[in-house]
Amino acid sequence: MCGIVGYIGPREAYPVLVKGLKRLEYRGYDSAGLALLDGGLKLYKNHGKVSDLEENVRGKDISGYVGIGHTRWATHGEPSDVNAHPHYSQSRKLAIIHNGIIENYGSLKTELINRGFEFKSNTDTEVLVHLIENIQQEEGVELVEAVRIAMNYVVGAYAIVVISENDPDKLIAAKKGSPLVIGIGKEEYFIASDASPIVEYTQNVVYLDDEELAIVPRKGELKIKTIRNKEKTPFVHHLEMQLSTIEKGGFPHFMLKEIYEQPKSIKDSMRGRLSLQTGQVVLGGIIDYEQKFLNARRILMIACGTSWHAALVGEYLFEDLARIPVEVEYASEFRYRNPVIYEDDIVIAISQSGETADTLAAIELAKSKGATILGICNVVGSSIARATHAGSYTHAGPEIGVASTKAFTAQVTVLALMALAIAQRKGTLSKSRYYELISEMESIPAKVDEVLKVNDLVYEISTHFKDARNFLYLGRGYNFPVALEGALKLKEISYIHAEGYPAAEMKHGPIALIDEHMPVVVLATKKGTYEKVISNIQEVKARKGVIIAIVTKGDEIVRDMADYVIEIPETDEIFVPLVATIPLQLLSYHIAVMRGCNVDQPRNLAKSVTVE
Ligand code: G6P
Repeated sequence: MCGIVGYIGPREAYPVLVKGLKRLEYRGYDSAGLALLDGGLKLYKNHGKVSDLEENVRGKDISGYVGIGHTRWATHGEPSDVNAHPHYSQSRKLAIIHNGIIENYGSLKTELINRGFEFKSNTDTEVLVHLIENIQQEEGVELVEAVRIAMNYVVGAYAIVVISENDPDKLIAAKKGSPLVIGIGKEEYFIASDASPIVEYTQNVVYLDDEELAIVPRKGELKIKTIRNKEKTPFVHHLEMQLSTIEKGGFPHFMLKEIYEQPKSIKDSMRGRLSLQTGQVVLGGIIDYEQKFLNARRILMIACGTSWHAALVGEYLFEDLARIPVEVEYASEFRYRNPVIYEDDIVIAISQSGETADTLAAIELAKSKGATILGICNVVGSSIARATHAGSYTHAGPEIGVASTKAFTAQVTVLALMALAIAQRKGTLSKSRYYELISEMESIPAKVDEVLKVNDLVYEISTHFKDARNFLYLGRGYNFPVALEGALKLKEISYIHAEGYPAAEMKHGPIALIDEHMPVVVLATKKGTYEKVISNIQEVKARKGVIIAIVTKGDEIVRDMADYVIEIPETDEIFVPLVATIPLQLLSYHIAVMRGCNVDQPRNLAKSVTVE
């Protein structure tokens, strides 16, 4: 939540900052601002998007070779001009941008007010900039030292960048809990919440660790020290990210592009891990932990949002194939409910961004109890990827649309690979079933490619439902998490109320909602509980509900009962989530576009939730 950028070097900072903020808008987009240094410190900010900021600064002085910028997702203080970042210090010589939450801001604020500081905003962030100035004034220390001391007073999560009129040749960046990346160019530096604003200038980056601060100079070398004042040598990573992967590539929205990327992203998740020639599934990242899996009493899967739905599919896969008991936990509940954690537990934390605050906290809790923590993350080098003992990246490429699509199918792909690998080592699958599954798995990208051909049909179906007020999604077995995910997608981007339910549970509640105004999306693919789901369809029809059925190609039985039918290619039951999810993503996309919603940046949501 919140995106931050900084630039120092020979270029005009403004275009770099604005372009960077647009790339980070997925992190929050309720207000935007920037500060530029060109002799004096200039600050512009407003409620609204980065495009509103561009309007706001039209005709104003935007010169400067040093600058910082921010796009906000409000936590403390409503979205407004005054609460937008950056925030000035009392003297207006310093300004700060911040991503995260200062938990003890209340007590710090009272103390600073007692010392004569006047607060202009309702944010927790403003406390920090006054605190830094206060330390400078009282202790007569340099800016770097004042930031370091201030960090020792602060409880909470932050990634900050400080700019100062009195120190025009440097930016100070610091981090704890929220991500921060520094790009190293030729005599220039870029700072950002993730690498997307940086890749077009340099592929060399340094990820700041928690409780570290960086002195980012106009000339000379980047310096890093810890908040205990210990110098550290920056470790430079070389990024593999291409600029094209973070642009829309001719699609009207990132979400649609990402839906269409799934044949490739699923293949990328499998690449080098699944070999039909050798008959092996090998995940290099967790190979050293296979024995732990074989000895594990159970697996705990921890995640939030869409990643939690992937974890549910993971539960079915691991129990079905590898016969290991699995518990799926919402990270936010797990971290606060004194859970039982055994030392021989394997915890699998699943996160697209690798930055979700609740998931990170749950990992730390499980780690402190001695469990083995594995990660399934999409963003390379992210906090969760670094906090886990080992893991497997999903390799889906950057996901920019706030509603997760290709990351979900990539997570399910990696979970299926893991379950198959462990099942083979444990001998819980017959040889013939194992080979049947791995060869079917190889055909999944082609099947996803095929299912994308339903797009025109889904568009047509969407025209009938764009004004619906409620939706119900039903599925059983492997299709139950798909129903949850389908409902979440629709809620997130079209603001239509939608509920996902296990089909057989409908009679215990949701059936009361069904009438001729209730569209019911039913996942009625062959095998598994197909016949039972047909009974559920009849129950809905008997109450005049409108059925949109997702069926296996060639199904005539459901076609005769349903109002609308979307066919998907036949696949093994365990891989159905990878195929059946696609039409539901398209359905929510088209309905949202028809309703005039901002598909890539839905209201109130953020891609990366770095606050609890
Ligand atoms: C936010 C996003 C969701 C995502 C969830 C978990 O709510 O909008 O799309 O599923 O966070 O994020 P993670 O990065 O941990 O998968």
